[in-house]
Amino acid sequence: MARPVQVVGLGGSLRAESTSRTALEAALDGAAADGADTRLISLRDLDLPMYTAERAIPSAAHEFAEAAHGCDAMIWSSPTYQGSVSGAFKNALDWLILLAEREPPYLANKPVGLITTAGGVHGLQAVNTMDFIARSLRAWSVPLVLPVPQSWRSFDPDGRLIDEAIAAQLRALGAEVVRAARQFQASGTCDYAEDRTFTSTAAQPAT
Ligand SMILES: Cc1cc2nc3c(=O)[nH]c(=O)nc-3n(C[C@H](O)[C@H](O)[C@H](O)COP(=O)(O)O)c2cc1C
Repeated sequence: MARPVQVVGLGGSLRAESTSRTALEAALDGAAADGADTRLISLRDLDLPMYTAERAIPSAAHEFAEAAHGCDAMIWSSPTYQGSVSGAFKNALDWLILLAEREPPYLANKPVGLITTAGGVHGLQAVNTMDFIARSLRAWSVPLVLPVPQSWRSFDPDGRLIDEAIAAQLRALGAEVVRAARQFQASGTCDYAEDRTFTSTAAQPAT
């Protein structure tokens, strides 16, 4: 029997009540319900300094890079800041330059699920930025993405998810990442031809 898929979630803002971290937790719950081993790496807890090659590499950067390289799939979740991902989120991914000389390099052959939360409606812009980053890191972003608009509607002031429709879509994204990772394990590809149960390319958040 194949070993459980290992899924690492990266994200959240630096706020204690971060909605993007709560969204990530829900997606990881969906992955776990589908049989994956999951680990959440919160940017608030990771507390990485800004990337530079001119100082000693912090242990948190090593730990994050090893977790990212060792897993089968990732789920990324960023708040939308100024129409894109947050600086903290991008900075964490900049540290993956530590994986440049690995074989395979960076995040090659790993599916990545993409989530954002936004106060308004710019979340898809941030998702699209994540897609560019995923490609540069040799990862495969899964077609199902979830930009959660108007986060104040779906999360309470403590950052708890109160919209069951959004929660279900986040869990579905987690399950989709596991499905893609299993397909990589089985065939080394991310070919959707053999599984036509998934038909939509974007979950539509409830309005
Ligand atoms: C610095 C900053 C910039 C933001 N820029 C945008 C934006 O461009 N578009 C948008 O829809 N929401 C924007 N927001 C709102 C956040 O995306 C929203 O509150 C989100 O839920 C925050 O995620 P968090 O709860 O994980 O911190 C911004 C918030 C901050 C603090």
